[in-house]
Amino acid sequence: MSFENLLVSAEGGIGTITINRPTKLNALNRATINELNEAITAFDTDAGVKVIIITGSGEKAFVAGADIAEFANFTEEEGEKLAALGQTLLFDLIENLGTPVIAAVNGFALGGGLELAMACHFRIASDNAKMGLPEVSLGVIPGYGGTQRLPQLIGKGRAMEMILTAGMIAAEDAKAWGLVNHVVSQAELLDFTKTIAEKIAKNSPVAISKAITAINAGFTKEGYNEEIRGFGQAFGTDDFKEGTTAFIEKRKPVFPGR
Ligand code: COA
Repeated sequence: MSFENLLVSAEGGIGTITINRPTKLNALNRATINELNEAITAFDTDAGVKVIIITGSGEKAFVAGADIAEFANFTEEEGEKLAALGQTLLFDLIENLGTPVIAAVNGFALGGGLELAMACHFRIASDNAKMGLPEVSLGVIPGYGGTQRLPQLIGKGRAMEMILTAGMIAAEDAKAWGLVNHVVSQAELLDFTKTIAEKIAKNSPVAISKAITAINAGFTKEGYNEEIRGFGQAFGTDDFKEGTTAFIEKRKPVFPGR
């Protein structure tokens, strides 16, 4: 498999996908989302691949979010479609995949980047990683499942604080809050993740897939639709225009508010 925005390899039953747009801190544009869908689906249908690892290229970022430059001029309709399509193509695909997917969070995991890590079955971070959902600082809300999966993982109060402050937390706090399972040095991250993947790979793929389905069945689906609606509505607001324009112009936003 060869891709424009991904590096993909498979060895010893473990498929590794590295998101590779380092000059844009691996931000998720539409092309990257489509390629991730393709690479993940290909690994899932390859009986030789027992576990998938997703990570980011470079030492700075896992994924610094959805590509803000790509969606800054979207209408409400386009915004809603972006969230709905992205959720189907990538985030729901990963969460419900029969093959386990581990996120190796090697740096910034922000917005869509943290949402991608949260859609994975669990997460391991390097000690330099920083995580957050900064969408409200851009005048929008998380649209790739963040309003649902963050409270599932760390509880409602902490999720409210992270989403409403748009702040970032360090890897050790993420571990204390249950957002990531382990924190290791950046140099050790991939080997450590592979060691855990190898343990999983020894178990029954059929039973693993049924366990994933059963665990996911305990969580309600309705919130995701509410998130898609709210995400789309944000695109019609002056706050969103100001937030995204300010990011592109590299200045702080001044929100007109309601
Ligand atoms: N979408 C599009 N481009 C992005 C991006 C994103 N989410 N995140 C970073 N980039 C781009 C920057 O525009 C910059 O491009 P340029 O060199 O062509 O100007 C490049 O990646 C490097 O980022 P920069 O901001 O210069 O790095 P930094 O070290 O100063 O800051 C961050 C790092 C992660 C704090 C900062 O990039 C950031 O806040 N990114 C946006 C995070 C965000 O809000 N994500 C949620 C999106 S919904």
